Amino acid sequence: MQKIYFGTMTKPDDTYKAVTEAFQAGYKYFDFAEVYGNQAEIGQAITDWFKNNPTLKRADYFFQSKVWVTDIDNNNVDQAVMKILKDLQLEYIDSLLVHRPSMDLNNSINAYKKLLAWKNKGIVKHVGISNFEKEHIVLLWSESGVKPEMHQFEMNIFNQRWDRVVFAQKYGIESQVYGALKRHEQSSEVEQLAKKHNVSTNQIVMSWLKHHHLNPVLKSTNFEHMKENLANVTIQLTDAELAVIKNLNRYENSYSEGIESSKFRDFYNQIKN
Ligand SMILES: NC(=O)c1ccc[n+]([C@@H]2O[C@H](COP(=O)([O-])OP(=O)(O)OC[C@H]3O[C@@H](n4cnc5c(N)ncnc54)[C@H](OP(=O)(O)O)[C@@H]3O)[C@@H](O)[C@H]2O)c1
Repeated sequence: MQKIYFGTMTKPDDTYKAVTEAFQAGYKYFDFAEVYGNQAEIGQAITDWFKNNPTLKRADYFFQSKVWVTDIDNNNVDQAVMKILKDLQLEYIDSLLVHRPSMDLNNSINAYKKLLAWKNKGIVKHVGISNFEKEHIVLLWSESGVKPEMHQFEMNIFNQRWDRVVFAQKYGIESQVYGALKRHEQSSEVEQLAKKHNVSTNQIVMSWLKHHHLNPVLKSTNFEHMKENLANVTIQLTDAELAVIKNLNRYENSYSEGIESSKFRDFYNQIKN
């Protein structure tokens, strides 16, 4: 079954309300990250949600966060995990991801192994990665002997990463995709499909994601949008319609991946011009 994650790359001042409304809208899967700088606000929203709804069980929710490259490159992963748990006010977390590959992949391998040690202690339930090329996934897997359970990366109609999707599906790795609703309103083809099916362009994209077994990470600070994004997609695209969307790909990403590694940022700034 498709999982829809609520994304939280939100300004700290907007975060408590957004997460509380996401709970109210019915989200069960949540995506956080230490680099978003709002985990204390999220922790308060989580605590208040369970306090105000005592019949709800923590075990019925899935909370995921990510360790940022600065902590990875500074060999600070264990401290980062402890801070994530403290800020989120959680005794355990469902999933932790290596947020981005480091330019020195040995750092990524060490971070991944550290997260696996937390999993062995039962405090982190699942371990995955984000923004990794498949060669790097193989490296982490071979060095640790443990396959990542989930991979989060950008995927939308203008940036279709079938290399990552096919690899993940082949090895039973969950694909979580962000940026999924990016810029589809700019596509006359998607607009035409929406008119034909009498649905919104968002729903065309959601149907495309569902068809390909991709789990989107969707952000909103608008309660109506939160509910719309969680609603069941009722239409099914035909093979010809799926081919129309496939043709829109131009490998144009909205986010950069990984060059922010603190160790290499200065060097990158020197050479980029
Ligand atoms: N692993 C990574 O490196 C990484 C990178 C980027 C993002 N992420 C994760 O992915 C999440 C989503 O990021 P994103 O880049 O996909 O978000 P995004 O492109 O910023 O999308 C959110 C935007 O779409 C709008 N929106 C959402 N639902 C809508 C709807 N039904 N109708 C109209 N507009 C709608 C929102 O506006 P309203 O607030 O007005 O609804 C918001 O401005 C993040 O919060 C984060 O958790 C991860």
